[in-house]
Amino acid sequence: MTTLFQTLPQPAYFTRNGACYLGDSLKLLRRLPGDCVDLVVTSPPFALLRQKAYGNRDQEEYVTWLCAFGNEIRRVLRDTGSFVLDLGGAYQRGVPVRSLHQYRVLLKMCDEVGFYLAEEFFWYNPAKLPSPIEWVNKRKLRAKDAVNTLWWFSKSEWPKADVRQVLVPYSERMKTLLRNPEAFYRPKNRPSGHGISSGFGTDNGGAIPSNLLRIPNTESSSSYLRLCKLVGVKPHPARFPAALPEFFIRFLTTEQDLVLDIFAGSNTTGYVAEQLGRKWIALELDASYVAGSALRFMESLSERDVTRMFASFAIGSRNEPVDLSGLPTLFDLAKVERGTW
Ligand SMILES: C[S@@+](CC[C@H](N)C(=O)[O-])C[C@H]1O[C@@H](n2cnc3c(N)ncnc32)[C@H](O)[C@@H]1O
Repeated sequence: MTTLFQTLPQPAYFTRNGACYLGDSLKLLRRLPGDCVDLVVTSPPFALLRQKAYGNRDQEEYVTWLCAFGNEIRRVLRDTGSFVLDLGGAYQRGVPVRSLHQYRVLLKMCDEVGFYLAEEFFWYNPAKLPSPIEWVNKRKLRAKDAVNTLWWFSKSEWPKADVRQVLVPYSERMKTLLRNPEAFYRPKNRPSGHGISSGFGTDNGGAIPSNLLRIPNTESSSSYLRLCKLVGVKPHPARFPAALPEFFIRFLTTEQDLVLDIFAGSNTTGYVAEQLGRKWIALELDASYVAGSALRFMESLSERDVTRMFASFAIGSRNEPVDLSGLPTLFDLAKVERGTW
């Protein structure tokens, strides 16, 4: 599979299940047919005030800029499709007052682009460093901001979703109940009026997760980082943890569905989709990030072969896409640091 759609240009590389394209995702999205994507999960460059290595936009401009992608995303999504957008917060310039950009994006995506808000999620990263240093560390005026908003948009009111695919381990209390439901609970009514029936004693294989996803972003020993070091490329500075796209891919798609990341960076999304047997498309503007992301799929190769394959990977100067479809991956989803979802 060199290309999923003939309407797209040559990918930079492709695997068994997907392909990564170098270019402006707005232009590439326009070349995709409508109603073909099941899930878009992505983390855009944020409107942060501190300049980051991957580029920024002024906060007001940012909302308009991002919503232009929303129009195309809505077009390419199937009616049952979802769009999960990871947006961090930010302070306004020079004052300890928050920007409202992620809420403006939410409202514009729904009011003007036509999405529904299926549910809001919050990604709590306990490993997040205090920021901005001025308000949090130096002047001690604000608490540490450790939560990103994740807007789960849908094209219709009834997106495909199955929460049973992302159950979390039962609490100790629930495990005790399941061992001996009769002794633990008598069916009764709570003061709230909600009945507690014997159904609570049924083992469903896990508990329903909440919309607070506690996922540390502490990756320090992955083969991606090891191989970046080996070939001398700078790892992507703003990767999300694999458990984040994994949660939504499991929750909102089934095998063979098509997952798209329009700001792919190091292609965490494509990599997880590959392991889960979903088809995927990754779009990324920066050639060095695209090249580095290919390393994710080379983990089963010897260091010599990685170096050789990477050297032949001069993106932009070659016409043929790099074929990574024969490479087995060693990635073990069971080992992904999940947090508490
Ligand atoms: C926050 S990073 C995504 C990181 C990614 N989730 C990961 O885990 O590696 C955002 C990415 O969007 C890319 N980007 C910005 N504008 C773009 C555009 N118009 N088209 C495609 N990619 C773009 C940036 O180069 C950057 O790599």
